[in-house]
Amino acid sequence: MFGNLDILAPDPILGVTAAFRRDSNPGKVDLGVGVYRDELGNTPVPAAIREAEREMLAGQASKTYVGPAGNPEFNERIVALALGPQAVRLRERTAVIQTVGGCGALRLGAELVRASAPDAVIHVSDPTWANHEPLVGTSGLALRRYPYYDPATRGVAFERMLDHLGRLPAGELVLLHVCCHNPTGADLDLAQWSAVGEVLERRGLVPYLDLAYQGFGDDLETDVAGLRMLAERLPTLLLAISCSKNFGLYRERAGALAVVAENAATARAVETHQARTARRMYSMPPDHGAAIAAHVLGDERLRQAWQRELAAMVARMKALRALLAGRLAARRPDRDFSWLERHRGMFSLLGLDPAGITALREEEHVYMPPDGRINVAGVSEANVDRVADSLVRVIDRR
Ligand SMILES: Cc1ncc(COP(=O)(O)O)c(C=O)c1O
Repeated sequence: MFGNLDILAPDPILGVTAAFRRDSNPGKVDLGVGVYRDELGNTPVPAAIREAEREMLAGQASKTYVGPAGNPEFNERIVALALGPQAVRLRERTAVIQTVGGCGALRLGAELVRASAPDAVIHVSDPTWANHEPLVGTSGLALRRYPYYDPATRGVAFERMLDHLGRLPAGELVLLHVCCHNPTGADLDLAQWSAVGEVLERRGLVPYLDLAYQGFGDDLETDVAGLRMLAERLPTLLLAISCSKNFGLYRERAGALAVVAENAATARAVETHQARTARRMYSMPPDHGAAIAAHVLGDERLRQAWQRELAAMVARMKALRALLAGRLAARRPDRDFSWLERHRGMFSLLGLDPAGITALREEEHVYMPPDGRINVAGVSEANVDRVADSLVRVIDRR
Protein backbone atom coordinates (compact mmCIF):
# COMPACT_ATOMS: atom_id res chain seq x y z
CA MET A 1 0.00 0.00 0.00
CA PHE A 2 2.63 2.55 0.98
CA GLY A 3 5.57 1.24 -1.01
CA ASN A 4 5.45 4.27 -3.32
CA LEU A 5 6.28 6.70 -0.54
CA ASP A 6 9.86 7.92 -0.21
CA ILE A 7 11.27 9.28 3.02
CA LEU A 8 10.79 13.05 2.95
CA ALA A 9 13.41 15.63 3.81
CA PRO A 10 12.85 16.90 7.36
CA ASP A 11 10.72 20.03 7.82
CA PRO A 12 13.24 22.92 7.75
CA ILE A 13 12.28 24.20 11.21
CA LEU A 14 11.53 20.89 12.97
CA GLY A 15 14.73 19.49 11.39
CA VAL A 16 16.81 22.10 13.23
CA THR A 17 15.35 21.00 16.58
CA ALA A 18 16.20 17.37 15.80
CA ALA A 19 19.79 18.26 14.80
CA PHE A 20 20.16 20.35 17.98
CA ARG A 21 19.07 17.41 20.14
CA ARG A 22 21.66 15.15 18.52
CA ASP A 23 24.53 17.62 19.21
CA SER A 24 26.40 16.56 22.37
CA ASN A 25 28.36 19.85 22.71
CA PRO A 26 27.50 21.31 26.16
CA GLY A 27 27.71 24.90 24.86
CA LYS A 28 25.16 24.40 22.06
CA VAL A 29 22.53 27.12 21.60
CA ASP A 30 19.15 26.71 19.88
CA LEU A 31 18.00 29.95 18.24
CA GLY A 32 15.79 28.00 15.85
CA VAL A 33 12.67 27.16 17.81
CA GLY A 34 9.44 29.05 17.25
CA VAL A 35 8.39 29.17 20.89
CA TYR A 36 8.96 31.57 23.77
CA ARG A 37 11.65 30.57 26.26
CA ASP A 38 12.44 31.89 29.72
CA GLU A 39 15.91 32.48 31.18
CA LEU A 40 16.25 28.75 31.95
CA GLY A 41 15.31 27.78 28.42
CA ASN A 42 11.85 26.54 29.42
CA THR A 43 8.53 27.34 27.76
CA PRO A 44 6.37 27.82 30.86
CA VAL A 45 2.62 27.54 31.21
CA PRO A 46 1.62 31.01 32.50
CA ALA A 47 0.35 30.82 36.10
CA ALA A 48 -2.97 32.44 35.11
CA ILE A 49 -3.44 29.76 32.45
CA ARG A 50 -2.76 26.98 34.98
CA GLU A 51 -5.25 28.49 37.39
CA ALA A 52 -7.87 28.91 34.67
CA GLU A 53 -7.30 25.30 33.65
CA ARG A 54 -7.94 24.07 37.20
CA GLU A 55 -11.11 26.15 37.55
CA MET A 56 -12.33 25.18 34.10
CA LEU A 57 -11.86 21.46 34.80
CA ALA A 58 -13.54 21.73 38.22
CA GLY A 59 -16.63 23.23 36.58
CA GLN A 60 -16.75 20.85 33.62
CA ALA A 61 -19.74 18.52 33.99
CA SER A 62 -19.41 16.66 30.70
CA LYS A 63 -17.06 15.98 27.84
CA THR A 64 -19.78 15.51 25.27
CA TYR A 65 -19.26 16.93 21.77
CA VAL A 66 -19.35 20.69 21.31
CA GLY A 67 -20.04 20.85 17.55
CA PRO A 68 -17.94 21.86 14.54
CA ALA A 69 -17.89 25.59 15.44
CA GLY A 70 -16.44 24.82 18.87
CA ASN A 71 -16.95 26.83 22.06
CA PRO A 72 -19.20 29.86 21.36
CA GLU A 73 -17.86 31.84 24.34
CA PHE A 74 -14.31 31.31 23.15
CA ASN A 75 -15.24 32.38 19.64
CA GLU A 76 -16.88 35.57 20.84
CA ARG A 77 -14.18 36.51 23.35
CA ILE A 78 -11.19 35.78 21.13
CA VAL A 79 -12.63 37.87 18.29
CA ALA A 80 -13.41 40.67 20.77
CA LEU A 81 -9.79 40.53 21.99
CA ALA A 82 -8.56 40.93 18.41
CA LEU A 83 -11.07 43.42 17.00
CA GLY A 84 -11.91 45.40 20.16
CA PRO A 85 -14.77 47.87 19.57
CA GLN A 86 -14.96 46.74 15.93
CA ALA A 87 -16.12 43.30 17.10
CA VAL A 88 -19.42 44.71 18.38
CA ARG A 89 -20.04 46.79 15.27
CA LEU A 90 -19.23 43.85 12.98
CA ARG A 91 -20.88 41.08 15.00
CA GLU A 92 -23.73 40.42 12.55
CA ARG A 93 -21.33 40.35 9.63
CA THR A 94 -18.82 38.03 11.31
CA ALA A 95 -18.68 34.23 11.01
CA VAL A 96 -16.36 32.56 13.54
CA ILE A 97 -15.23 28.98 13.95
CA GLN A 98 -12.86 27.58 16.56
CA THR A 99 -9.94 25.87 14.85
CA VAL A 100 -7.03 23.53 15.44
CA GLY A 101 -4.61 26.33 16.33
CA GLY A 102 -3.66 29.14 13.98
CA CYS A 103 -2.53 26.62 11.37
CA GLY A 104 -5.99 25.06 11.31
CA ALA A 105 -7.48 28.53 10.84
CA LEU A 106 -5.15 29.37 7.96
CA ARG A 107 -5.96 26.13 6.20
CA LEU A 108 -9.70 26.30 6.82
CA GLY A 109 -9.78 29.86 5.50
CA ALA A 110 -8.05 28.75 2.31
CA GLU A 111 -10.56 25.90 1.89
CA LEU A 112 -13.44 28.38 2.26
CA VAL A 113 -11.96 30.74 -0.31
CA ARG A 114 -11.50 27.85 -2.71
CA ALA A 115 -15.12 26.74 -2.23
CA SER A 116 -16.33 30.21 -3.18
CA ALA A 117 -13.65 31.41 -5.61
CA PRO A 118 -11.54 28.48 -6.88
CA ASP A 119 -9.43 30.74 -9.12
CA ALA A 120 -8.53 33.20 -6.37
CA VAL A 121 -4.86 34.03 -5.89
CA ILE A 122 -3.32 34.57 -2.43
CA HIS A 123 -0.30 36.85 -2.20
CA VAL A 124 2.10 36.20 0.67
CA SER A 125 4.97 38.38 1.85
CA ASP A 126 8.50 37.75 0.58
CA PRO A 127 9.73 36.18 2.78
CA THR A 128 7.04 34.63 4.93
CA TRP A 129 6.72 31.96 7.60
CA ALA A 130 7.89 28.66 6.09
CA ASN A 131 4.55 26.97 6.78
CA HIS A 132 2.33 29.54 5.05
CA GLU A 133 2.88 28.26 1.56
CA PRO A 134 2.29 24.55 2.39
CA LEU A 135 -0.73 25.32 4.60
CA VAL A 136 -2.50 27.69 2.26
CA GLY A 137 -1.18 26.38 -1.05
CA THR A 138 -2.20 22.76 -0.47
CA SER A 139 -5.82 23.89 -0.63
CA GLY A 140 -5.28 24.26 -4.38
CA LEU A 141 -5.29 28.06 -4.47
CA ALA A 142 -2.58 29.81 -6.45
CA LEU A 143 0.09 31.52 -4.33
CA ARG A 144 2.32 34.42 -5.29
CA ARG A 145 4.67 36.68 -3.37
CA TYR A 146 4.66 40.42 -2.82
CA PRO A 147 7.83 42.38 -1.91
CA TYR A 148 8.03 42.89 1.85
CA TYR A 149 11.50 42.88 3.38
CA ASP A 150 14.48 45.00 2.46
CA PRO A 151 17.69 43.29 3.66
CA ALA A 152 19.60 46.55 3.20
CA THR A 153 17.51 48.50 5.74
CA ARG A 154 16.27 45.40 7.63
CA GLY A 155 12.86 47.05 7.47
CA VAL A 156 9.79 46.81 5.26
CA ALA A 157 10.38 47.55 1.55
CA PHE A 158 7.28 49.66 1.77
CA GLU A 159 7.37 51.55 -1.53
CA ARG A 160 7.83 48.34 -3.49
CA MET A 161 5.16 46.56 -1.44
CA LEU A 162 2.61 49.31 -1.99
CA ASP A 163 3.41 49.62 -5.66
CA HIS A 164 3.00 45.86 -6.09
CA LEU A 165 -0.32 45.71 -4.23
CA GLY A 166 -1.52 48.69 -6.27
CA ARG A 167 -1.32 46.61 -9.45
CA LEU A 168 -3.16 43.49 -8.27
CA PRO A 169 -6.55 42.67 -9.79
CA ALA A 170 -9.73 42.95 -7.71
CA GLY A 171 -10.78 39.89 -5.71
CA GLU A 172 -7.27 38.61 -4.97
CA LEU A 173 -6.17 38.03 -1.37
CA VAL A 174 -3.23 39.52 0.48
CA LEU A 175 -1.92 37.57 3.47
CA LEU A 176 -0.60 40.03 6.07
CA HIS A 177 1.08 39.33 9.42
CA VAL A 178 -0.79 41.50 11.93
CA CYS A 179 2.32 41.93 14.12
CA CYS A 180 5.68 40.34 14.91
CA HIS A 181 6.34 39.38 11.29
CA ASN A 182 7.69 35.86 11.03
CA PRO A 183 10.58 35.52 10.08
CA THR A 184 11.78 39.13 9.67
CA GLY A 185 10.53 40.92 12.83
CA ALA A 186 9.87 43.97 10.60
CA ASP A 187 6.32 45.27 11.07
CA LEU A 188 4.28 47.95 9.33
CA ASP A 189 3.79 51.19 11.28
CA LEU A 190 0.37 52.80 11.59
CA ALA A 191 0.82 55.16 8.64
CA GLN A 192 1.84 52.17 6.51
CA TRP A 193 -1.18 50.13 7.65
CA SER A 194 -3.36 53.05 6.68
CA ALA A 195 -1.78 53.23 3.21
CA VAL A 196 -2.17 49.45 2.79
CA GLY A 197 -5.85 49.78 3.79
CA GLU A 198 -6.31 52.49 1.18
CA VAL A 199 -4.77 50.32 -1.59
CA LEU A 200 -6.77 47.23 -0.59
CA GLU A 201 -9.96 49.28 -0.65
CA ARG A 202 -9.18 51.01 -3.94
CA ARG A 203 -8.20 47.76 -5.70
CA GLY A 204 -10.97 45.59 -4.20
CA LEU A 205 -8.44 43.26 -2.55
CA VAL A 206 -9.25 41.04 0.42
CA PRO A 207 -6.90 40.94 3.43
CA TYR A 208 -6.15 37.54 4.94
CA LEU A 209 -4.76 38.46 8.36
CA ASP A 210 -2.57 36.10 10.35
CA LEU A 211 -2.69 36.95 14.06
CA ALA A 212 -0.32 34.57 15.83
CA TYR A 213 1.42 36.99 18.21
CA GLN A 214 -1.13 39.41 19.69
CA GLY A 215 0.52 40.89 22.79
CA PHE A 216 4.01 39.67 21.85
CA GLY A 217 5.13 42.86 20.07
CA ASP A 218 4.21 45.77 22.37
CA ASP A 219 0.88 44.95 24.04
CA LEU A 220 -2.54 43.49 23.30
CA GLU A 221 -3.92 46.77 21.93
CA THR A 222 -0.96 48.30 20.08
CA ASP A 223 -0.25 45.05 18.23
CA VAL A 224 -3.68 44.95 16.58
CA ALA A 225 -4.08 48.66 15.71
CA GLY A 226 -3.42 47.95 12.01
CA LEU A 227 -5.89 45.06 11.96
CA ARG A 228 -8.60 47.23 13.54
CA MET A 229 -7.95 49.94 10.98
CA LEU A 230 -8.54 47.46 8.15
CA ALA A 231 -11.65 46.09 9.89
CA GLU A 232 -13.07 49.60 10.05
CA ARG A 233 -12.42 50.30 6.42
CA LEU A 234 -12.90 47.14 4.36
CA PRO A 235 -16.05 45.19 3.58
CA THR A 236 -14.48 41.71 3.79
CA LEU A 237 -11.60 40.14 5.64
CA LEU A 238 -10.35 36.81 6.94
CA LEU A 239 -8.63 36.62 10.31
CA ALA A 240 -6.68 33.55 11.47
CA ILE A 241 -6.08 33.67 15.23
CA SER A 242 -3.65 31.53 17.21
CA CYS A 243 -3.65 31.18 21.02
CA SER A 244 -0.41 29.19 21.01
CA LYS A 245 2.10 31.89 21.90
CA ASN A 246 0.23 34.55 23.88
CA PHE A 247 -1.72 32.06 26.05
CA GLY A 248 1.15 29.54 26.08
CA LEU A 249 -1.32 26.88 24.88
CA TYR A 250 0.82 25.55 22.01
CA ARG A 251 0.05 21.83 22.14
CA GLU A 252 -3.59 22.32 23.08
CA ARG A 253 -4.19 23.64 19.55
CA ALA A 254 -6.49 26.58 20.21
CA GLY A 255 -7.30 29.09 17.50
CA ALA A 256 -10.12 30.60 15.48
CA LEU A 257 -11.00 31.71 11.99
CA ALA A 258 -13.15 34.84 11.74
CA VAL A 259 -14.57 35.92 8.40
CA VAL A 260 -16.06 39.39 8.16
CA ALA A 261 -18.44 39.36 5.19
CA GLU A 262 -20.13 42.18 3.25
CA ASN A 263 -23.45 41.56 4.96
CA ALA A 264 -25.14 39.42 7.60
CA ALA A 265 -26.73 37.03 5.08
CA THR A 266 -23.33 36.20 3.57
CA ALA A 267 -21.85 35.76 7.06
CA ARG A 268 -24.58 33.19 7.91
CA ALA A 269 -23.77 31.31 4.68
CA VAL A 270 -20.05 31.41 5.52
CA GLU A 271 -20.82 29.89 8.95
CA THR A 272 -22.48 26.90 7.33
CA HIS A 273 -19.50 26.39 5.04
CA GLN A 274 -17.04 26.76 7.90
CA ALA A 275 -18.88 24.04 9.82
CA ARG A 276 -19.11 21.74 6.81
CA THR A 277 -15.43 22.17 5.93
CA ALA A 278 -14.43 21.33 9.50
CA ARG A 279 -16.82 18.36 9.60
CA ARG A 280 -15.30 16.93 6.44
CA MET A 281 -11.70 17.27 7.61
CA TYR A 282 -11.71 16.56 11.35
CA SER A 283 -15.32 17.08 12.49
CA MET A 284 -14.70 19.17 15.59
CA PRO A 285 -11.84 21.09 17.21
CA PRO A 286 -10.26 20.02 20.52
CA ASP A 287 -11.99 21.74 23.45
CA HIS A 288 -9.44 21.95 26.23
CA GLY A 289 -7.26 24.92 25.19
CA ALA A 290 -10.14 27.02 23.89
CA ALA A 291 -12.10 26.41 27.10
CA ILE A 292 -9.11 27.66 29.11
CA ALA A 293 -8.70 30.79 26.95
CA ALA A 294 -12.45 31.48 27.19
CA HIS A 295 -12.26 31.17 30.97
CA VAL A 296 -9.30 33.57 31.24
CA LEU A 297 -10.94 36.14 28.99
CA GLY A 298 -14.24 35.90 30.87
CA ASP A 299 -12.76 36.40 34.35
CA GLU A 300 -11.41 39.88 35.05
CA ARG A 301 -8.95 38.77 37.73
CA LEU A 302 -7.44 35.98 35.64
CA ARG A 303 -7.39 38.21 32.59
CA GLN A 304 -5.40 40.87 34.44
CA ALA A 305 -3.02 38.25 35.80
CA TRP A 306 -2.50 36.78 32.33
CA GLN A 307 -1.89 40.24 30.85
CA ARG A 308 0.77 40.92 33.47
CA GLU A 309 2.54 37.67 32.60
CA LEU A 310 2.33 38.47 28.90
CA ALA A 311 3.77 41.94 29.55
CA ALA A 312 6.69 40.34 31.41
CA MET A 313 7.41 38.05 28.43
CA VAL A 314 7.42 41.04 26.07
CA ALA A 315 9.68 43.02 28.39
CA ARG A 316 12.09 40.08 28.46
CA MET A 317 12.17 39.77 24.66
CA LYS A 318 12.82 43.50 24.29
CA ALA A 319 15.56 43.36 26.93
CA LEU A 320 17.19 40.41 25.12
CA ARG A 321 17.11 42.31 21.85
CA ALA A 322 18.88 45.25 23.51
CA LEU A 323 21.34 42.92 25.26
CA LEU A 324 22.34 41.05 22.10
CA ALA A 325 22.52 44.26 20.01
CA GLY A 326 24.76 45.82 22.68
CA ARG A 327 27.09 42.82 22.92
CA LEU A 328 27.42 42.62 19.13
CA ALA A 329 28.04 46.37 18.81
CA ALA A 330 30.70 46.17 21.53
CA ARG A 331 32.55 43.55 19.47
CA ARG A 332 32.04 45.25 16.12
CA PRO A 333 31.52 48.99 16.67
CA ASP A 334 31.83 49.59 12.93
CA ARG A 335 28.58 47.71 12.24
CA ASP A 336 24.98 48.61 12.90
CA PHE A 337 22.98 46.16 15.02
CA SER A 338 20.22 48.60 16.04
CA TRP A 339 17.75 46.73 13.80
CA LEU A 340 17.62 43.98 16.44
CA GLU A 341 15.94 46.49 18.76
CA ARG A 342 13.62 47.91 16.11
CA HIS A 343 12.14 44.50 15.31
CA ARG A 344 9.12 43.18 17.18
CA GLY A 345 8.31 39.73 18.55
CA MET A 346 10.66 36.78 18.79
CA PHE A 347 12.20 36.77 15.33
CA SER A 348 14.79 38.61 13.27
CA LEU A 349 16.68 37.57 10.16
CA LEU A 350 20.42 37.40 10.64
CA GLY A 351 21.16 38.02 6.98
CA LEU A 352 23.78 35.28 6.64
CA ASP A 353 24.10 33.11 3.54
CA PRO A 354 23.51 29.32 3.77
CA ALA A 355 27.25 28.66 4.22
CA GLY A 356 27.28 31.03 7.21
CA ILE A 357 24.30 29.26 8.77
CA THR A 358 26.04 25.92 8.27
CA ALA A 359 29.28 27.26 9.80
CA LEU A 360 27.35 28.50 12.83
CA ARG A 361 25.83 25.06 13.29
CA GLU A 362 28.85 22.88 12.58
CA GLU A 363 31.64 24.99 14.07
CA GLU A 364 29.91 27.11 16.68
CA HIS A 365 27.02 24.77 17.69
CA VAL A 366 24.55 27.63 17.25
CA TYR A 367 21.37 26.43 15.53
CA MET A 368 18.82 28.22 13.34
CA PRO A 369 16.75 27.33 10.25
CA PRO A 370 18.27 27.69 6.76
CA ASP A 371 16.76 31.16 6.24
CA GLY A 372 18.86 32.52 9.15
CA ARG A 373 15.89 33.35 11.36
CA ILE A 374 16.84 33.72 14.99
CA ASN A 375 14.53 33.53 17.98
CA VAL A 376 15.75 36.12 20.47
CA ALA A 377 14.03 34.17 23.26
CA GLY A 378 16.72 31.51 22.70
CA VAL A 379 19.29 34.04 23.95
CA SER A 380 19.81 34.39 27.71
CA GLU A 381 22.02 36.31 30.13
CA ALA A 382 24.00 33.10 30.44
CA ASN A 383 24.68 32.50 26.73
CA VAL A 384 24.62 36.01 25.19
CA ASP A 385 28.41 36.42 25.10
CA ARG A 386 28.87 32.98 23.63
CA VAL A 387 26.22 33.78 20.96
CA ALA A 388 27.74 37.20 20.18
CA ASP A 389 31.26 35.70 19.85
CA SER A 390 29.99 33.00 17.49
CA LEU A 391 28.00 35.40 15.33
CA VAL A 392 30.89 37.85 15.04
CA ARG A 393 33.36 35.08 14.12
CA VAL A 394 31.10 33.91 11.30
CA ILE A 395 30.17 37.45 10.15
CA ASP A 396 33.87 38.40 10.06
CA ARG A 397 34.72 35.53 7.79
CA ARG A 398 32.20 36.64 5.16
C1 LIG B 1 3.16 33.45 11.46
C2 LIG B 1 2.47 32.30 12.13
N1 LIG B 1 1.19 32.05 11.83
C3 LIG B 1 0.52 31.06 12.41
C4 LIG B 1 1.11 30.23 13.33
C5 LIG B 1 0.23 29.14 13.86
O1 LIG B 1 0.47 28.62 15.07
P1 LIG B 1 -0.36 27.43 15.73
O2 LIG B 1 -0.96 26.58 14.67
O3 LIG B 1 0.65 26.72 16.54
O4 LIG B 1 -1.41 28.07 16.55
C6 LIG B 1 2.45 30.45 13.68
C7 LIG B 1 3.15 29.56 14.62
O5 LIG B 1 4.35 29.49 14.70
C8 LIG B 1 3.14 31.51 13.06
O6 LIG B 1 4.41 31.79 13.34
